[in-house]
Amino acid sequence: MYTEKVMDHFENPRNVGEIENPDGVGQVGNPTCGDIMKIYLKVKDNVIEDVKFKTFGCGAAIATSSMVTEMVKGKSLDEALKISNKMVAEALGGLPPKKMHCSNLAADALQAAIQDYMDKQEKK
Ligand code: FES
Ligand code: FES
Repeated sequence: MYTEKVMDHFENPRNVGEIENPDGVGQVGNPTCGDIMKIYLKVKDNVIEDVKFKTFGCGAAIATSSMVTEMVKGKSLDEALKISNKMVAEALGGLPPKKMHCSNLAADALQAAIQDYMDKQEKK
C-alpha cells in the first residue's frame, strides 16, 4: 500500500523536533480527527536554514512532514512557497488516495510557517 520512500520517512523521519527561537512557526490541525502538525523555521537572507516538525498524526502524515522538511531545507522562501501537497506526495512516490488529505497538513503547515515569518518581518 505504501511506497518504500513513504515507509523510509515514516520509520526514520528527518528533522523531527522543535527549533528554539524560531523565525516562523506554522500549525495546522484537522478539528474533526484531532491530527496536528507544527513546523518551525529558521530563516536567513530569505533562505530556510533549518526546519523541524512535530506531527500528531498517522504514518502518512509523518512521512509527508519529514519529506517536506527535506524539500525546503536550503531553499529560498519563494521556492518553498510553491511547494504543494501534490509535490510532497509525488516526491514520496505517491500516497494511497485515502491518505492524500494527510499530505495537506504538511504543505499547509509549511505555508503557515512562512506566512508567520513574513508577518513578523513586517512588524519589525
Ligand atoms: Fe486526520 Fe487524516 S484523519 S488528517
Ligand atoms: Fe490523520 Fe493521516 S493525519 S489519517
